[in-house]
Amino acid sequence: MRVLITGGAGYIGTHTMLEVLGAGHEVCVIDNFSNSAPEALARVKTLSNRSFTFHKADLRDREGLTMHLKAFNPDAVIHFAGLKAVGESVEKPLEYYENNVQGTINLLQAMKAAGCQNIVFSSSATVYGDPDFLPITEDHPLRSTNPYGRSKLHIEEMLRDLAISDPDFTAAILRYFNPVGAHESGRIGEDPSGIPNNLMPMIAQVAVGRRAHVKVFGNDYDTPDGTGVRDYIHVVDLAKAHVAALDWTQSHTGARAFNLGLGQGVSVMEMIDAFAKASGREVPYVNAPRREGDIATCYADPSRAQAELGWKAQIDLAGMCETCWLWQDTNPLGYKTKT
Ligand code: NAD
Ligand code: WQD
Repeated sequence: MRVLITGGAGYIGTHTMLEVLGAGHEVCVIDNFSNSAPEALARVKTLSNRSFTFHKADLRDREGLTMHLKAFNPDAVIHFAGLKAVGESVEKPLEYYENNVQGTINLLQAMKAAGCQNIVFSSSATVYGDPDFLPITEDHPLRSTNPYGRSKLHIEEMLRDLAISDPDFTAAILRYFNPVGAHESGRIGEDPSGIPNNLMPMIAQVAVGRRAHVKVFGNDYDTPDGTGVRDYIHVVDLAKAHVAALDWTQSHTGARAFNLGLGQGVSVMEMIDAFAKASGREVPYVNAPRREGDIATCYADPSRAQAELGWKAQIDLAGMCETCWLWQDTNPLGYKTKT
């Protein structure tokens, strides 16, 4: 299959490229490197031992996108590109709507011009807001509490509308829970710029000595140990789900959402303990106030993805921590580390 990947240089994109190339598909990547580095793609090339096409292009440039899509003529698109920091989205909502929503409209129009009707889209568990029930099924009511989440919700709704308007249109909407970990080679991984927003990269930077301690945001939640509970999923498991979703688009039509998680809740303190064990390093932490907008508990019912995509997460919490540590320990400065 000919697969065009937007945002392929990013954290989930690089891991997915390895799986998609490994499955024998032809790949064309589009990225503007606003949150990634060319080095990440260079490493994907070495690890996969495959070549692929790359265009430095921006989703906001509809003409450029259309030109690249027409030239590559993809059978399907995997769409990762977008901005993803919740806090930043509250400060800069227009940037989020422009990159995520307008960018996706441009992409969908370019797909139409190129005759491509299959898309795999990166959505997020954030579209469920503070859940009414657990585990969260795909039929849970949708809501969002910040511009980032609303951008995902708007895009999901556009995809559902398109599927109604065009009986040949297919969208696999993948709702990721909390992606963590790194490739088993330790050569690619998550490389946040500035202070990490998310728990796992923060723990990793504390373990490697870049930061003094983890701030535990709230220890008085209604959870077994009082700290926030999430459904962490290894990024390679997530990447494999995209290959399964690509296959799904070839024999289905319509827009369908799939939860991608393990279906297990892990608390902040359990994650800190598991990481300390996997790395053999101390992970100092301090208790801090709750972070605004955070919820107590969130975990998936991933059974639809298993039944319909034939996909199930395989890697446990220890594997998530071990691979994240291998990446962090061998690349303490991320892709800027001299190797
Ligand atoms: P990332 O920032 O590492 O990757 C996104 C990539 O898109 C980057 O390489 C960036 O340079 C590129 N990009 C951004 N805006 C662009 C634009 N306008 N034009 C071209 N390229 C652009 O993020 P990630 O963690 O790999 O996430 C990938 C997708 O998954 C995003 O859509 C994100 O919202 C979604 N998601 C991520 C998480 C998570 O926790 N990482 C959870 C749920 C959903
Ligand atoms: C996990 C837990 C924090 C950092 C976010 C987005 C979501 C999705 C994934 C894109 C929570 C606690 C965190 C720290 C802490 N992204 N924590 N100290 O908030 O579940 O989800 O990333 O779609 O939309 O909201 O993930 O890793 O930030 O937090 O105590 O320094 O760790 O309070 O309980 P979250 P996270």
